[in-house]
Amino acid sequence: MLEQLEQTEKGALAELSAAADAAAVEAWRLAYLGASGKLRALMSGLKDVPKDQKPAVGARLNSLKNALEAAHAARKEQVGAGAPVAAGPMIDMTEPGLIDSRALGRAHIISRVRDELVEVFARMGFEVADGPELEDDEHNFVKLNIPPEHPARDPIDNFYVDDPSRHSLPRMLRSQTSTVQIRTMEDAIKRGWGPPIKIVAPGRVYRPDTVDATHSFMFHQIEGLYVDRGVTMSELKSTLLHFARAYFGKDAEVRLRPSFFPFTEPSAEFDMKIRLRPDQPARWIELGGCGMVDPAVFEACGLDPEIWTGFAFGFGIERIAMGKYGIPDIRMLFENDLRFLEQL
Ligand code: DAH
Repeated sequence: MLEQLEQTEKGALAELSAAADAAAVEAWRLAYLGASGKLRALMSGLKDVPKDQKPAVGARLNSLKNALEAAHAARKEQVGAGAPVAAGPMIDMTEPGLIDSRALGRAHIISRVRDELVEVFARMGFEVADGPELEDDEHNFVKLNIPPEHPARDPIDNFYVDDPSRHSLPRMLRSQTSTVQIRTMEDAIKRGWGPPIKIVAPGRVYRPDTVDATHSFMFHQIEGLYVDRGVTMSELKSTLLHFARAYFGKDAEVRLRPSFFPFTEPSAEFDMKIRLRPDQPARWIELGGCGMVDPAVFEACGLDPEIWTGFAFGFGIERIAMGKYGIPDIRMLFENDLRFLEQL
């Protein structure tokens, strides 16, 4: 009997490995492991085995059964539904990843603050607009009502790409995102989608400033522009207060200080009370400028200032990031020292 079981196992396994597809494997299962299969027949023969051999034969029958079942399961998986993927290791796409997400990196703190600011303004109905970093001085100055003799136009204070004394439309790296106000109004008229206009425009600006704790030759601003009929200064104030509370918390202390910008009238400086270092008291920090759009700017863009009114603002994103996270030196934002960035 033991000899017979040996032969059965050998034969069965040989047949199984010859079974080439799912149907053949199933036919094999029925022949060996099925209700009227060979294994059953052998098991029912156990009763005729002499009593002293029964334990050994019974154990062998069990091991035969286990061997056939295991071989069947393995072969079934190999043959599968015939698809080649089943031959390789199975991949469960729903399993949580093993890779630590920190190892993959993440957005820089400036990008994160920029996205958060856009999000806050989006909740107030502002859409995102964009403009080129390589500008002409028409958009950077002329249409923003900044006259030729204005100190901000001094070539020494700007990154001109073309010589301003030799070109009629000299190109430059934009020194402010206010350029996007002009571009957006021009586009709204050209394509007929506005006004009303309600946009924020985050982006890089460039000025040949000497680098120190609060200055950099490149930094980021977020510009805002709202143009509609009957816009008032109180809407500007409430929008900025709402922004400050949404982003810095309901205790945020802000103030508007009278100021001057050629493209707004009246103009104001927007300050917030911020503690930059834990060992220093909070103090007023200027986040940027704002005001009511000057009629000359509307005219330069082809909008009738008798009909349209609006407010604008432009804030430094680094300043906001430094205020929010208590970063005392702007250079830390550009040095890319991971020991610093990983703390944020
Ligand atoms: N563009 C100004 C700057 O870079 C900031 C600014 C002031 C933007 C007043 C505005 C504004 O939109 O209304 O200094």
